Amino acid sequence: MKKNIFITGGCGYKGSKIVPTLLKSGHRITVFDTTWFGNYLPSNANLSVKSGDVRNLKNLSLEGYDTVIHLASIANDPCGDLNPTPTWEISVLATQQLAELAISGGVKDFIYASSGSVYGLSDSEKVTEKEKLVPLSIYNKTKMCAERILLSYSKALNLKIVRPATVCGLSPRMRLDVAVNMLTVQALQNKKITVLGGEQIRPNIHIDDLAALYKFFVEAEESKNGIYNAGFENLKIIEIAEMIAGKTGADIQIKESNDPRSYRLCSDKILEMGFKPQKTVMDAISEISEAWKKGIITNKPEWHTVSWMQKNNFGPEKFSPQFALSA
Ligand SMILES: NC(=O)c1ccc[n+]([C@@H]2O[C@H](COP(=O)([O-])OP(=O)(O)OC[C@H]3O[C@@H](n4cnc5c(N)ncnc54)[C@H](O)[C@@H]3O)[C@@H](O)[C@H]2O)c1
Repeated sequence: MKKNIFITGGCGYKGSKIVPTLLKSGHRITVFDTTWFGNYLPSNANLSVKSGDVRNLKNLSLEGYDTVIHLASIANDPCGDLNPTPTWEISVLATQQLAELAISGGVKDFIYASSGSVYGLSDSEKVTEKEKLVPLSIYNKTKMCAERILLSYSKALNLKIVRPATVCGLSPRMRLDVAVNMLTVQALQNKKITVLGGEQIRPNIHIDDLAALYKFFVEAEESKNGIYNAGFENLKIIEIAEMIAGKTGADIQIKESNDPRSYRLCSDKILEMGFKPQKTVMDAISEISEAWKKGIITNKPEWHTVSWMQKNNFGPEKFSPQFALSA
């Protein structure tokens, strides 16, 4: 069945791959985004892009939509630390208002982009969805709180919460602040990779698999409601660096790290549900390398989320009066 889908944050790194994947399957999409990093979505009769902020939903109705995919957020740890107030407003308070709007508009399905980082530090061999959440950063904490808020609406919405690993690979809105992408471009540009620590384990997911996973959930039945990890390769940062060095011929330099986060994800639940990942971290490295050699991607300032947000003062100046009591 073709769905009418409302996607917040659809112009971002993930959205720029998820939206074309869903359009290809014939779904109709409205994207709602502040377009802080631009808009690289294709022109398509089934796509409309509205410029707007999820902190200000008062003139919006979600009547007629089947599904909400909620991606909009200040999307990493350093940005959350840089702008704590808008991070809480966007990721938590606005999520509650979006859920209310979805319910009053008669929307049935709600898919939320949480993060695998909600588990924080863990030595467990298998971090399943049942693991205790110990979020460390403001970003991680807002993701956990948004999950809890949404779970309180689970009688009114078919809720799927995705906890993805760090995403890697090419997107029209590129991100060069995520590990594999950042290290690959460093290697291509400088012939040298600087690794902080290196022993930390991080789970990874290729962006094409992530886009396929959202399509899987959009088309899934109600019985698939729940929380899902999504990360298919748990690798030490040094292992990723060695893969990149093998592909590009770059040297590896190791420096001390002050980032203690180390975690691995077990995604058996989604695999048992029938989802099959098709791509690997090595595919992402090869695809980025090829695109770089052909000049398809370059190291643009807007691909670096923190410095771009800092430079443009995104977040704070858009403070919304509806949350004035929280200030
Ligand atoms: N990329 C990853 O590795 C990763 C991993 C786990 C979870 N996530 C989550 O997935 C989601 C998307 O991440 P991404 O990598 O595409 O990030 P991104 O920063 O590229 O995209 C976020 C998009 O949201 C928009 N946005 C931000 N605040 C908004 C607001 N107040 N109103 C409307 N739009 C707003 C931005 O303009 C941007 O287009 C985020 O919620 C992020 O926390 C990402």
